[in-house]
Amino acid sequence: MGEKPIKSDRPILIIDFGGQYCHLISRRIRDLGVYSEILPFDSNVEKIKSFNPKGIVLSGGPASVYESGAPSLKRETFEYIIESSIPLIGLCYGHHLIIQLLKGRVIPKEHKEYGKTELKVLKFKDIFSDLEEFETVWMSHGDQITELPQNFEVYGSTDSCAFAAYGNSEKKIYGLQFHPEVQHTIHGNKILSNFIFNICGCKGTWKMENWIPNKIKELRDEIGDEGVILGLSGGVDSSVVAVLLQNAIGGNVHPIFVNNGLLRKNEVEDIIKLFRDDLKFQNFHHIDAEKLFLEKLKNVKDPEEKRKIIGLTFIEVFEKKAEEITKKYKNIKFFAQGTIFPDRVESAKTSKSSTKIKTHHNTALPEDMKLKLIEPLRDLYKDEVREIGKQLGLRDDIIWRQPFPGPGLAVRILGPISKQNLSILRKADWIMREEINSAEISGDLWQYFVVLLPVKAVGVMGDFRTYEFICALRAVESKDAMTASFAKIDWEILELISTRIVNEVKGINRVLYDITNKPPGTIEFE
Ligand code: XMP
Repeated sequence: MGEKPIKSDRPILIIDFGGQYCHLISRRIRDLGVYSEILPFDSNVEKIKSFNPKGIVLSGGPASVYESGAPSLKRETFEYIIESSIPLIGLCYGHHLIIQLLKGRVIPKEHKEYGKTELKVLKFKDIFSDLEEFETVWMSHGDQITELPQNFEVYGSTDSCAFAAYGNSEKKIYGLQFHPEVQHTIHGNKILSNFIFNICGCKGTWKMENWIPNKIKELRDEIGDEGVILGLSGGVDSSVVAVLLQNAIGGNVHPIFVNNGLLRKNEVEDIIKLFRDDLKFQNFHHIDAEKLFLEKLKNVKDPEEKRKIIGLTFIEVFEKKAEEITKKYKNIKFFAQGTIFPDRVESAKTSKSSTKIKTHHNTALPEDMKLKLIEPLRDLYKDEVREIGKQLGLRDDIIWRQPFPGPGLAVRILGPISKQNLSILRKADWIMREEINSAEISGDLWQYFVVLLPVKAVGVMGDFRTYEFICALRAVESKDAMTASFAKIDWEILELISTRIVNEVKGINRVLYDITNKPPGTIEFE
């Protein structure tokens, strides 16, 4: 992270080959109390040496080691790692790359393999100390190893992958075909702990406690006496940024809340009350831009197109307001927003080699934006943001608000958006929220919401045929939104929600429940 923490231990370096989970590896290691840094795969060897790392992790990535131009380590970097006997572990792509660089054999696999798999553990030592004979692991790979270099042993295999884990105890080099950093690998943390503590000899003394004072100082140094406008959605991320900036620069922060017409029932009123009346922000601004957003989104079906339009319209509205504020108050030079790490990972803004999943609205900024961007939470995960919110004294109901995407209900209405289908979705979504709250299960869920599908189904109500829209209920459990499992909600609760929606919401006559995990799905539908 960029906040220069107290480094009480030499770090673990993670070399990024563009995998979606790269930053999760760093996250898990930091959670275990060891400082970690991420460097791009093509960093030069001097940069790597400057960290004097205790251990190195080669991340996964979307490429195959066989593709032309596939990312690799610079030859001198690999030689430095081997000659200095720095413990090394490769995950997925990194697992193949080590074998390729050591002249073993890797072949492309015809069918890619994704999902939960059972690993048979063959060696109960080193990284696999204290594991069970059979372990559930999360696979996601294309290539496959068929021959190990000399003095390497197989540590574990699966039905379809004979070399799912390997190691060389003497040289402290290991590889895993699966992802220990993903929660679905049940004992993934144990494997990572074995590597960083037993193999690398780290102590586990790094803590995040200096984050707030360091960040406040950094913000003061950067902003000085200038003004900042803040894109405020009312969610935990932008609320934490608001309070952080208030602590750093006091009244020079101008939070701007835009009603884009894509918010849930009661949300506009609640947010205005919170910031104006409860938190008493001196320079809080509210803009009603519903008409503008809905006009720009008219007839737009494509998810990426929607996200881009919404992102750009936000900026347009903000810049106009900033000019007004500049005239009235003082010179506004900065634009702050609550972007967090997963937003950037999934918009492929973290590394040269990652693939883009979707453009999170707050990463679709125009190239020629006049204001300078400030994103204090850009390297943090949601639960870290919540922890900081707690330390800043934010109320529990703000800290635990379920995440809501910047593009709002636009990405929960598949197909074109209209006032009418927004109204249908708001009613259905409210029913789901009411029932989940009265069943007292909201604390177990990361998010729960309704999605309006662009297809109609036939039904029967009383003596009449109906032909109305279908909606899907989505409820997931997650720690940081990087992975998620669909929630196994009681049938009775789902039945109640479904019955109420069909009876009370004109326009919907059928309700589905989404049972897709992330990956391979994403939490939102678009
Ligand atoms: P996905 O759908 O990518 O979502 O699995 C991961 C988390 O991010 C939220 N999300 C967004 N948040 N701007 C945001 O601020 C966005 O454009 C955006 N898209 C998705 C989503 O609700 C989930 O919590």
